[in-house]
Amino acid sequence: MRTFSLLAISLTVSLLFSETQARNVHDISECPPLKPRRSPPKDVTDLRIDDIKVIASLGDSTMAGFGLQEIIDGTTPLDALEIRGKNYATGGDPGAKSLARFTTNYQPELKGASVGQIVVTRCNYDYCALSDYNPDVDRLNGAKSGAIAKRIKDELDYVIPYMKEYPGVDFENDWKLIILHIGNNDQCDSCTVRGNESTPEVYGSYIDTAIERISQNIPKAIVTLVGNLNVSTLYNLASRHPEYCPTEDATINYLTPKVECPCLSSPELMLGMDAVVAEYNKRLIKIAEKYKAKKGSNFAVVYQPAGIDFRGFPINYLSPLDCFHPSIHAQEYFAKILWNSLFRPSIKKQKVFEYDENLAIYCPKNSDRISTK
Ligand SMILES: *[C@@H]1O[C@H](CO)[C@@H](O)[C@H](O)[C@H]1NC(C)=O
Ligand SMILES: *[C@@H]1O[C@H](CO)[C@@H](O)[C@H](O)[C@H]1NC(C)=O
Repeated sequence: MRTFSLLAISLTVSLLFSETQARNVHDISECPPLKPRRSPPKDVTDLRIDDIKVIASLGDSTMAGFGLQEIIDGTTPLDALEIRGKNYATGGDPGAKSLARFTTNYQPELKGASVGQIVVTRCNYDYCALSDYNPDVDRLNGAKSGAIAKRIKDELDYVIPYMKEYPGVDFENDWKLIILHIGNNDQCDSCTVRGNESTPEVYGSYIDTAIERISQNIPKAIVTLVGNLNVSTLYNLASRHPEYCPTEDATINYLTPKVECPCLSSPELMLGMDAVVAEYNKRLIKIAEKYKAKKGSNFAVVYQPAGIDFRGFPINYLSPLDCFHPSIHAQEYFAKILWNSLFRPSIKKQKVFEYDENLAIYCPKNSDRISTK
């Protein structure tokens, strides 16, 4: 009897311990492994990170990894490259800090992460060419530089058929994590002659249509709908660091913030962008609400706030190529905040993100689920 209770106590203690040991690390490989599950997930509300077998993404140049190169040997990169293997969501290069690599730590068979790099092919405002994709590099990362919400349609034209025939993917039965992040170019267009395509209402309807298509065509999926940040905060940071940023003279250099984002041209227009962003995010929250997980359901959309306020960040969080796109440091920051947020219910998700030099990576516990609440 006594032996039994001692055993019970020591079991309880070790269980408690395994649930409380190092939970915040700087390299995902330091996280303790998860114990294999006894039974498969019941539904979309019961997913652990190691249940995810496929990862895919939709978005713009940030998701494409455009310009994230570092300054090497004091030389600013000259090539307009998409380093697709290091984007924060589906970056699959070894050592990348990305949702894909963090997930691979728990599910080594994960399929779909993009690898390597490629010279940028921009999405035309009216059209993204299917022939511009390079499946060997892109894999299931459908993001296109220059894309606005309207173009998610074309990205799905690439991602959905490819996922169906993707080597090693059981399309009907594998659980999929899909990250959708769009709205930077939309907010940057909102003050221009093309602004009728970027009103919050039109933006919301394009996303809603895309989500509906995903829900009807991709079985067993959880969609992370990434919230928009104020692009004005990137410019605020850039404008204080002329020593780091390439010239803004557009006759010499066309990769400048104001050329890439026309609504950065005046303080008034920037305020207008911030207001549009708030409305975009309200629309995204509404869409996530509409597709909220139900018991027994195999599909859900979860909104992840990502309101990074770049004003207080070190300048090397911006691309040395154009002082506008996120650099590798910002991409890694995105990866960490979104990963950490995956496991938190909506009411506990952080909404605004300031610079945090020691931002750590959360280690999920056996009891953690990808939160759909
Ligand atoms: C925006 O305006 C263009 C040019 O007039 C038009 O072709 C397009 O259909 C409009 N888009 C929306 C969503 O109203
Ligand atoms: C964007 O800026 C506005 C105005 O400064 C602010 O109220 C809002 O919280 C910011 N939004 C995000 C997502 O950071």
